[in-house]
Amino acid sequence: MKKINADAGMIRIPLIDGDSCTLCGACVAECPKRHLSISNGAVRINTGECMLCSHCYCVCPSDSISFDPKSLRELSFQEIKPAARMTCGPAEAGRIAAAIHSRRSIRKYGKKQPSGKIISDLLEIAVSAPSGSNRQQWEFIVVSGREKVMELAMKIRDFFIAMNRIADNPVSLALSFLFAGKKLFNYKKNHIESVKMALQEFERGNDLLFHGAPSLLVIHGPIDGSTPLEDSVLASYNIVLIAHSIGLGTCYIGYAVESINRSKKIKRDLGIPPGNRVHVVLSLGYPVKKHIRRALRKPYPSNWV
Ligand SMILES: Cc1cc2nc3c(=O)[nH]c(=O)nc-3n(C[C@H](O)[C@H](O)[C@H](O)COP(=O)(O)O)c2cc1C
Repeated sequence: MKKINADAGMIRIPLIDGDSCTLCGACVAECPKRHLSISNGAVRINTGECMLCSHCYCVCPSDSISFDPKSLRELSFQEIKPAARMTCGPAEAGRIAAAIHSRRSIRKYGKKQPSGKIISDLLEIAVSAPSGSNRQQWEFIVVSGREKVMELAMKIRDFFIAMNRIADNPVSLALSFLFAGKKLFNYKKNHIESVKMALQEFERGNDLLFHGAPSLLVIHGPIDGSTPLEDSVLASYNIVLIAHSIGLGTCYIGYAVESINRSKKIKRDLGIPPGNRVHVVLSLGYPVKKHIRRALRKPYPSNWV
């Protein structure tokens, strides 16, 4: 397949309208990379790579800064309507805290499929997250529909059956140490029994992997990127919170992350390039039950220095 260079012809710097610019210097002061300066009556772009964070655009009082739409665009929503205000007051803080505090992992979903519009909005919300050096190294796969979810579940089942066979064979277990260190030993010690139980349940028609979800979101990114794991996790948590606030449930599925990353076939089938790793798999759907109380948490160390 011919690879298309998405960056071709893209202008990767702020475009400054000299006619409306008042030379107030707000963009110069804001740029985290110090790429902007004022000289000879104009804002100049210094050498060095702009990380396209758009901070300059966001502080310009005369609206004189824009970007090539091929490199930056405004987020757009179809069902979820973000309020236009730029600040949050205590009322919003209380609501945000309520959303954070009342969210739980959902392990029982109804059949109703979240609409494509809502899922698109969740992706738009996801990419508002911060990212390392603004690289935004997140790529999304939407697995939409229970049939497709089950297709993936069956591939993961096959993966775990094969892995258990290796882990249960003392010779192959010992050999695995040479290639993967303690990974398989740890899997055998910590997870194999619950995986075996889940496999038995799967044969009885109980989906303990994706909990009966009608859709999944898979977030992946380049292995050699800046902070792709953190980028993906932060993006996913935006999804989790907004999904919860509109009555959708989610659950992080770590078992799916592990198996997809270890299986070339599953990665290929999902269209994930070999140079990418999956960082997050989320189940997504409408919860069957509502929790009536908020989560309790363990006491945690907190050392103020
Ligand atoms: C990285 C990660 C992986 C997880 N993997 C699974 C999983 O494979 N299956 C599952 O049912 N829950 C999984 N969870 C959900 C946790 O079990 C859950 O977040 C935790 O028990 C706290 O419960 P709460 O999310 O309802 O507050 C995972 C959570 C995280 C953060």
